[in-house]
Amino acid sequence: MLHHKTLIGFISLGIALPTLAQDPPQDGGIWDQLETSTELKWTDCYNNSQCSRFQVPLNYSNPDGETASIAMIRVPSPLAGTDQYRGPILLNPGGPGGSGVELVAGAGEVLSQLLGPRFDVVSFDPRGVGFSTPRASFFPTEAQRQLWGSPAFDVINATSDGLARIWARAQITGALAAQQDQKTPLFEHFNTENTARDMLRMVEAHEEEKLQYWGFSYGTVLGATFASLFPDRVERLVLDGVVDSENYFATLWSNNLLDSDKAMQTFFDGCFEGGPDLCPFYEPSPKAIERKLDELTRSIFLRPVPVMTNISYGLVDYARLRATIAQSFYSPYSDFPRLARGLADLVHGNGTALYQMLEMPVFDCSCGTPVPLQPITDARIVISCTDGQEIRDTVDDLEIYVRKLLRQSQWGEVWATFRIACTAWPNQAKRHFRGPFVGNTSHPILWIGNTADPVTPIASAHKMAQGYPGSVVLTQDSSGHSSIAAPSTCTTRYVRDYFVNGTMPAEGIVCPVIAPVFSGQPSSNGTGVDGPRIARELANKETEDDQEIARVLQRLREKFRVPSPF
Ligand SMILES: *[C@@H]1O[C@H](CO)[C@@H](O)[C@H](O)[C@H]1NC(C)=O
Ligand SMILES: *[C@@H]1O[C@H](CO)[C@@H](O)[C@H](O)[C@H]1NC(C)=O
Ligand SMILES: *[C@@H]1O[C@H](CO)[C@@H](O)[C@H](O)[C@H]1NC(C)=O
Ligand SMILES: *[C@@H]1O[C@H](CO)[C@@H](O)[C@H](O)[C@H]1NC(C)=O
Ligand SMILES: *[C@@H]1O[C@H](CO)[C@@H](O)[C@H](O)[C@H]1NC(C)=O
Ligand SMILES: *[C@@H]1O[C@H](CO)[C@@H](O)[C@H](O)[C@H]1NC(C)=O
Ligand SMILES: *[C@@H]1O[C@H](CO)[C@@H](O)[C@H](O)[C@H]1NC(C)=O
Ligand SMILES: *[C@@H]1O[C@H](CO)[C@@H](O)[C@H](O)[C@H]1NC(C)=O
Repeated sequence: MLHHKTLIGFISLGIALPTLAQDPPQDGGIWDQLETSTELKWTDCYNNSQCSRFQVPLNYSNPDGETASIAMIRVPSPLAGTDQYRGPILLNPGGPGGSGVELVAGAGEVLSQLLGPRFDVVSFDPRGVGFSTPRASFFPTEAQRQLWGSPAFDVINATSDGLARIWARAQITGALAAQQDQKTPLFEHFNTENTARDMLRMVEAHEEEKLQYWGFSYGTVLGATFASLFPDRVERLVLDGVVDSENYFATLWSNNLLDSDKAMQTFFDGCFEGGPDLCPFYEPSPKAIERKLDELTRSIFLRPVPVMTNISYGLVDYARLRATIAQSFYSPYSDFPRLARGLADLVHGNGTALYQMLEMPVFDCSCGTPVPLQPITDARIVISCTDGQEIRDTVDDLEIYVRKLLRQSQWGEVWATFRIACTAWPNQAKRHFRGPFVGNTSHPILWIGNTADPVTPIASAHKMAQGYPGSVVLTQDSSGHSSIAAPSTCTTRYVRDYFVNGTMPAEGIVCPVIAPVFSGQPSSNGTGVDGPRIARELANKETEDDQEIARVLQRLREKFRVPSPF
């Protein structure tokens, strides 16, 4: 559901852990044709969506100065104009740097079914991101960005100089950013406070007084920022896959991995429970599956496997293998069955299936021809390093940091790169909001966390909830990143009730999911499982309404992924 062929929607590729899209929206050219306005003027775009370019001040302290053009998209409510209509729900897919346009272009209709017909499903590319202009970019051309290479597979223990190498590259990216920003000073405006202010403008442009919002992962930082700045403008806030905002604004990235090893464990356990028919990497105990993966990893470290497909070529080496496994934790229902197939083939020397999990087409430079505006990935670094406190760690400092992360989880070697990326970020005044994360909101916040979320542990949801009286944490008993990574009719009902009626779940509710991760054959087109077991379990005990919800959730999982890092 992403931009050009094969990138998945609002998955920002590049810095961390890319993912693939299956049916990318093809209509990027529309944005060049839309006029920017302070009113919302909707034009049909993509499939069954409407697009608009919305004008906001680049600098809210200088409201009559330069402006930014925010790319907005919606699937309108069929009940608009009736007394059942309940206005817009804004969504943010995470990132930072994730594209809300790609989210709604790819999954808007499914989200609309999930939330019900009373609402418009609305999203946008935050300032600096995707189709919004001006853009957060520190390479003058796409070719230069490609030649510098994607840090997607920056994995610390891939080489003996891994940490120092990633640090050294970050010094160059920082210098490129400084160069670019000297030419046109922009980056300071691309912070989360300003995006929260943009959201308030969007609410007002809809002629609403208050915000209704569902934010995933980094979208919870955006939501918490809004709730702290404008507590009396909150109608509904669902913050799902919760980031510890204090930790984020301190550029620490240090408490995300508390449950990551649990996420890995759900692969071993799920594969064992699924049995050899559903899990091709099966062994007769979870421990034996883990050992087999360790052996495979050691073998790949010494002998990478070459792969050619019809759209690209490359190696399955240690870094790619580790990055692919870590990425699969985000969407285990779609990716664990594929991972198991890929690993099983890799044992026999065939790396194709595993390689394809993060495949990108070979870059094809149409030099000289202007390319349509496409989402780019520098935005993630720009937003997170601009938001965060300045850091100037040396390699020695980082060595200590990485050791701490590795004590939290073996996946620290993949995660550390997000902090390292900011070590050479240009000096900035940092006048934007960075806490405290507290507020007496005009309606209580609904926080959602999974028991084995790989990058936003449930502990962060409980910590954040303390700052906002009346808010409640709903727990979903699953792995995956954010609630929609796993199918739970229970969670969906709470979310719907909250949006429609404002009802809060009782404290301490834990929602089950309706099926184990290995619950069907990987679908032939690789988008996920076809879920015969899900269907069977539902047919036995749930209502027709639940079955409908389950079908919608299945389609949503095929279309939606939260961007890495979160
Ligand atoms: C619209 O949907 C069709 C079929 O689902 C797909 O082939 C096409 O690429 C989509 N168009 C856009 C602009 O996303
Ligand atoms: C925003 O505008 C104010 C008032 O003109 C100015 O003092 C400030 O430097 C501007 N911020 C940035 C990041 O340019
Ligand atoms: C991985 O790299 C970190 C950082 O350099 C280092 O502290 C750690 O010992 C390495 N781990 C292994 C298994 O080599
Ligand atoms: C890739 O090659 C296979 C077999 O050679 C072919 O069936 C398939 O259509 C090709 N796919 C693309 C995208 O060209
Ligand atoms: C490797 O696996 C792919 C499927 O992922 C298959 O199409 C291909 O034929 C296999 N190659 C060999 C040499 O077996
Ligand atoms: C919220 O309200 C309580 C009770 O009136 C008050 O003690 C507290 O300071 C308020 N918090 C904020 C952030 O305004
Ligand atoms: C909202 O409240 C109504 C009336 O109490 C109830 O029937 C309904 O199930 C609730 N939830 C939703 C999503 O409408
Ligand atoms: C992939 O296969 C599943 C199940 O067979 C199907 O429901 C889905 O529509 C397919 N997706 C695409 C993009 O072809």
